Amino acid sequence: QQVFILNGPNLNMLGKREPGIYGATTLSDIEAMCRAEGEVLGVDIEFRQSNHEGDLVNWIQEAGERRALVLINPAAYTHTSIALHDAIRAAGVILVEVHISNIHARESFRHHSYVSSLAKGVLCGFGVDGYVMGLRALIKLAPQ
Ligand code: DQA
Repeated sequence: QQVFILNGPNLNMLGKREPGIYGATTLSDIEAMCRAEGEVLGVDIEFRQSNHEGDLVNWIQEAGERRALVLINPAAYTHTSIALHDAIRAAGVILVEVHISNIHARESFRHHSYVSSLAKGVLCGFGVDGYVMGLRALIKLAPQ
């Protein structure tokens, strides 16, 4: 089973970016955590990040074609991207949404997600551990 772990804009800056909110962990650290968990779960992980909305759209389409499961932190595109919403809907992928911070405890413009209505589940506020929790949850949702 293949799992795409997709990361949206500014997540390449983790570690340096607002550490009070996002912590000191870098995206490479998160990738290493996910790869370690992927080995335990016996899944093949494709870990990607982009600052461009269209890359995320292309990767969702690719995941749909490959019948891959998707764990996504769409970052700011969560709150803005109808294109991402449409891509997920069209691809019909099994998807879990993750956010490092608790988006509901922050500014009101972060409270709405264009992705959540299409996700099997949403994790937010558990810090970077949310990625590992989300990966485990995703594998349990996969058709056997
Ligand atoms: C985020 C929350 C978003 O509101 C924000 O734009 C991000 C990161 C998170 O992981 O907490 O870039 O998705």
